[in-house]
Amino acid sequence: EAGSRDVLRSPICCILGHVDTGKTKLLDNVRRTTVQEGEAGGITQQIGATYVPGDAICMRTEALRKGKEFELKLPGLLIIDTPGHESFTNLRSRGSGLCDIAILVVDIMHGMEQQTMESINLLKMRNTPFIVALNKVDRLFEWQAVKDAPIMEALERQKPHVKAQFEQRLQQSILNLNEQGLNVALYWKNPDKRKYVNIVPTSAISGEGIPDMLQLLVRLTQDMMSERLMFISELQCTVLEVKVVEGLGTTVDVVLVNGVLHEGDTIVLCGMNGPIVTNIRSLLTPHPLKELRVKGSYVHHKEIQAAQGVKLAAQNLETAVAGTQLHVLHKPEDLEGLKLLAMKDMEDIFKSVDRSGEGVCVQASTLGSLEALLEFLRSPAVKIPVSGIAIGPIHKKDVMRASVMLEKGRQKFAVILAFDVPVTKEARELAESLGVRIFTADIIYHLFDHGRGCLKRCGG
Ligand code: GTP
Ligand code: MG
Ligand code: NA
Repeated sequence: EAGSRDVLRSPICCILGHVDTGKTKLLDNVRRTTVQEGEAGGITQQIGATYVPGDAICMRTEALRKGKEFELKLPGLLIIDTPGHESFTNLRSRGSGLCDIAILVVDIMHGMEQQTMESINLLKMRNTPFIVALNKVDRLFEWQAVKDAPIMEALERQKPHVKAQFEQRLQQSILNLNEQGLNVALYWKNPDKRKYVNIVPTSAISGEGIPDMLQLLVRLTQDMMSERLMFISELQCTVLEVKVVEGLGTTVDVVLVNGVLHEGDTIVLCGMNGPIVTNIRSLLTPHPLKELRVKGSYVHHKEIQAAQGVKLAAQNLETAVAGTQLHVLHKPEDLEGLKLLAMKDMEDIFKSVDRSGEGVCVQASTLGSLEALLEFLRSPAVKIPVSGIAIGPIHKKDVMRASVMLEKGRQKFAVILAFDVPVTKEARELAESLGVRIFTADIIYHLFDHGRGCLKRCGG
């Protein structure tokens, strides 16, 4: 249809699955990047966003179409990467809450794992359509790589015993998924796309099945959910990260799920010390096929339509809280209402901490990782009380707050657990002189390795 390509918005596709099944690596293959190699501990600890434009999809699916026209009605796909590590249930939940469709990644050598099941439950809960990428086919014994090939072509080229291995592991995974109450089928054998979840075997290393995966995502979204993708409804925009960028000052990375953002828009956000009202100074995106969470150069825009991963530069963003909703002010009389709405997300989490009592202080880079840390500290095996929480770098005032425990004679609680946040020089000096201990780590569970002895004394 003429013009239809202008109307549909890009669908948001979320990648979910157990830790190390290859979610980031699959995206690296699509992007031709090496984001995974740069991750601390090789694990993803933030939500990522990558825009895959229509041209790139056409190019990667060419081998599959063999010259046949592919009527692409979508501008592109916005792919959201999520962590698989058990600590990040909240980020998986947030990611899956943003998406129109999902890829559930299963390691063909491992089959069903703990966070595979958790992810399935998240998808069922929200009724989100998804496909299963049965990844790491290249690890089948004596697999012969057929770089970037459509998966059926690659399978045909394998020796009989490799085909047999594949079949056996496939059947095992099908059985596992059936046990989770899912009807599943290899996508080329799927008897009914509305009743059976499609399985696509893939390798993130040698690229087999990537064309199939992309084509499936396009087909399932543009053919089966065009209504949902048809109109740009009211603004839906989630803050993923707050970051200082040289030359831009403090910026926020957001996922624009629905609606339009303009340069100059007045926005209302949730801040650590109350609502933030400011104007968008610059509206930036990474280049297509680049990951928003990785530092790079940016494209400037006057306006941006959903769906996109966007970096916003504006004044007063220093205290913005990751994981909350961003609102645009259209009528001045809406201001007070929007301020209340913006603060709602954080209040729920802050309410869960008893700040009058005794306990350690906890500080993290995002609302998501803060939630994960609090969850961990509450768990029966750990049970460490928390008296203060904050998001962002550790400043002198944070050390002062933790030192209150010293005044109360509760030395063991004069501790700051800092996840993925910098400590300012002044804060570190003050902590040393006061006797406040700061444990930092860029992997959540390392915090507890580093501070084990000390934290044991804090536990109940
Ligand atoms: P988290 O984000 O930490 O949950 O992990 P992930 O699912 O993003 O997996 P990641 O991309 O970090 O890959 C984990 C490991 O598996 C890395 O060492 C990858 O190189 C490897 N890997 C991923 N996909 C494949 C694949 O298709 N074949 C093989 N042989 N190795 C793979
Ligand atoms: Mg990852
Ligand atoms: Na990993």
